[in-house]
Amino acid sequence: MAAQTVLTSKINYPSKQHNRLRPYFCMPNFWLKLKKPIYALAPMAGVTDSAFRQICKQYGAEVVYSEMVSATAIVYNSQKTLALMKFNKKERPFVVQLFGAKPEHFARAARIAAKEIKSDGIDINFGCPVKKIARQGAGAVLMNNVKLAREIIEAIINNTDLPVSIKIRSRAGSTTALDFLKPLADLDIKAVMIHGRSVAEAQSGGVDWQIIKQARQYVKGVLLANGGVKDKISADELLSKTGADGIGIGQGALGRPWIFSQLVARNSQPITKKKIFQIVLKHAKLAEKLKGQPGIIEMRKHLCWYVSGLPNASSLRQKLIKVASVDEIEKILR
Ligand SMILES: Cc1cc2nc3c(=O)[nH]c(=O)nc-3n(C[C@H](O)[C@H](O)[C@H](O)COP(=O)(O)O)c2cc1C
Repeated sequence: MAAQTVLTSKINYPSKQHNRLRPYFCMPNFWLKLKKPIYALAPMAGVTDSAFRQICKQYGAEVVYSEMVSATAIVYNSQKTLALMKFNKKERPFVVQLFGAKPEHFARAARIAAKEIKSDGIDINFGCPVKKIARQGAGAVLMNNVKLAREIIEAIINNTDLPVSIKIRSRAGSTTALDFLKPLADLDIKAVMIHGRSVAEAQSGGVDWQIIKQARQYVKGVLLANGGVKDKISADELLSKTGADGIGIGQGALGRPWIFSQLVARNSQPITKKKIFQIVLKHAKLAEKLKGQPGIIEMRKHLCWYVSGLPNASSLRQKLIKVASVDEIEKILR
């Protein structure tokens, strides 16, 4: 499809008729069907690709998010961007996260996500602190522009029947999550994930439990707390301090996708080295199957995360960072 065609074609308002033909998890609103507490794999750019999402799903993640995808790039038919949204049905429910600054691009991207990608939900990134994204007027800077944020959310709600969720920060400059959510409380937002760190704190630092708890008054749908979950103790603490319906797990799943099974099954038994190596190989084979050799190159960072904490981690890392095939990984791990 030419970019021009995409940009100028009319935005229709879809009928609800086609929902009858959709599988279970495609039915709106999947968020209500999830068992609580909900353990979600949080979106992570360069990390939460289909291979990693499938592994996390297999270990008990209830819902998985894509990495953030540019709404504008989707509208311009960027094949690289469209590839980021592809998923396997095993990942359902699967949420595509969009970032951008133009409501009309979100409208079109949402329709593509719903009709062509067939994701189960659409999330909007209002929390990314990265300068490159901020320069486009997207991500966390939108928390300081509620009017435009509302237009973006409405553009998606009015152009798809998929459940719309948002991911925000506890604070962006002088705007708190409460300042942001209050004027949006009338919108049909099905889920809100609040990363309990301010924009200034980026991905580390203390998590503001209080603000997540207070946000409940403005959230009609599912409330997910996010930040700092590394194990069952930190997960339980975040849930109890915030009263959230679930949690988003980011860095705690890096090299440890089995964290979900430990949370879901409430099983804190340490995983054996042998089991870790089996998971690594499964992940690597999947990455290669889905992306070919570039999948293995991208896999290198995962390999380093997987072996961190093992007794010979440093020497393993030095070898794993150079691998170019599944065979090489297998030899090193043996
Ligand atoms: C490498 C990396 C990439 C990230 N990419 C995204 C992203 O694409 N969209 C988003 O909303 N948040 C992104 N985040 C933020 C995470 O979703 C999450 O909010 C953050 O890491 C805090 O949770 P944690 O303490 O469990 O890691 C990213 C974080 C990391 C570490």
